[in-house]
Amino acid sequence: MAAIRNVVILTGAGVSAESGVATFRGPGGLWEGQRVEDVCTPQALARDPALVHRFYDERRAKLASVAPNPAHLALARLDAEWPGELLLVTQNVDDLHERGGSMRLIHMHGELKSALCAGCGHREAWEESLPPGCECTVCGAPLLRPDIVFFGEMPYRMEAIERALAEADLFVSIGTSGAVYPAAGFVQTARYHGADTLEMNLDPSQGSGWFAESRLGPAGVLVPEWVEEMLA
Ligand code: OAD
Repeated sequence: MAAIRNVVILTGAGVSAESGVATFRGPGGLWEGQRVEDVCTPQALARDPALVHRFYDERRAKLASVAPNPAHLALARLDAEWPGELLLVTQNVDDLHERGGSMRLIHMHGELKSALCAGCGHREAWEESLPPGCECTVCGAPLLRPDIVFFGEMPYRMEAIERALAEADLFVSIGTSGAVYPAAGFVQTARYHGADTLEMNLDPSQGSGWFAESRLGPAGVLVPEWVEEMLA
């Protein structure tokens, strides 16, 4: 393996689990006992906006009581000290990476602390609850919705992510089950372009076989260890 300069890191719900943010799949996960189609699709929003808005209001409110854990902090340290290119792509809609200090960050599935106008596409910072019918500050339409990428919608910043993957020397996936595309396919894209690949997860993800190396354990332990190695 040639020297590593360009690094792309993908995170999922597992990186925030030790902060007390629920993951999606598995026991105690958000999708357990909840049909994804009821809260995370454009059809659900059209059918029962109050239910969908309330689901994300509850999760937004929860952010006040959680804090970044050692994995978020270690990734922020790597961002600050890594001399080459680095891009952190998160599927998470919490704000723990930025609160941990990460700067080069893309929220590909949207953000709890943001509202999206379904009329004009404007996105604005949003801290409080977001009942259906709030007006967009740009176009005035009462169409603000949670700024979450629902199933069937295009994730954010895919061009920038694809570009970074094509130039990556190392692709690292942390705390994601590998169940949701396109993120689940990033490892294949990175490999295709010649990157080395590393997965860190509590247990093998659905895409484990694609990674050159898998480290199993809690992100709060594995990620700080890996960052030490990278910066040594
Ligand atoms: P999942 O809940 O599918 O997977 C979380 C992964 O993290 C699992 O593989 C767990 O084993 C692992 N895990 C749990 N605790 C961990 C820990 N302490 N350290 C390391 N790993 C741990 O969550 P995602 O893969 O992020 O999309 O889910 C992907 C997308 O599915 C989400 O972004 C969401 C959901 O539908 C949207 O809402 C748009």
